[in-house]
Amino acid sequence: MRFRPSLGVMLWLVILMSAASAGPVDLAAAEAQFRKSCGTCHVAETGAGPRQGPNLFGVVGRKAGSVDGFKYSPALVAGGSGIVWDEGILDRWLADPQSVIPGAVMLYKQADPDKRKLVIEYLKTRR
Ligand code: HEC
Repeated sequence: MRFRPSLGVMLWLVILMSAASAGPVDLAAAEAQFRKSCGTCHVAETGAGPRQGPNLFGVVGRKAGSVDGFKYSPALVAGGSGIVWDEGILDRWLADPQSVIPGAVMLYKQADPDKRKLVIEYLKTRR
């Protein structure tokens, strides 16, 4: 006899498959993506000093340009006032910093939304 899956069975398979792909973020992958994309210029550790860019520990929910002792560009100091980094604005910043704060000096752009999301998920754990 041929196996003929019922509509119910197929529906379950679809639900199981989508649950697997929309599962919790793989934090190891998220950290690896952060190190690869941002690690040359940023750390995200309590109390650590800056690299080329400021320490990103606690950046989600923090006012732009507010790390004490980091010498931001004049553009970021001026344009950043009023910006509080949340997921939405971080996503736009990583896609194109100039579109958020023209004249900022972060030489980085990430066109892949999945990679941006991974990095942001990692930063959300660093606070
Ligand atoms: C080539 C070096 C470089 C890379 C790579 C880089 N950044 Fe930056 N980033 C900077 C610099 C420099 C600044 C300060 C910009 C300014 O003052 O205009 C900055 C600023 C920032 C800020 C603003 C911080 C604040 O205190 O307001 C965030 C957020 C940020 N970077 C996130 C990231 C993330 C996340 C990545 C990786 C996906 C990344 N950056 C990759 C150099 C870099």
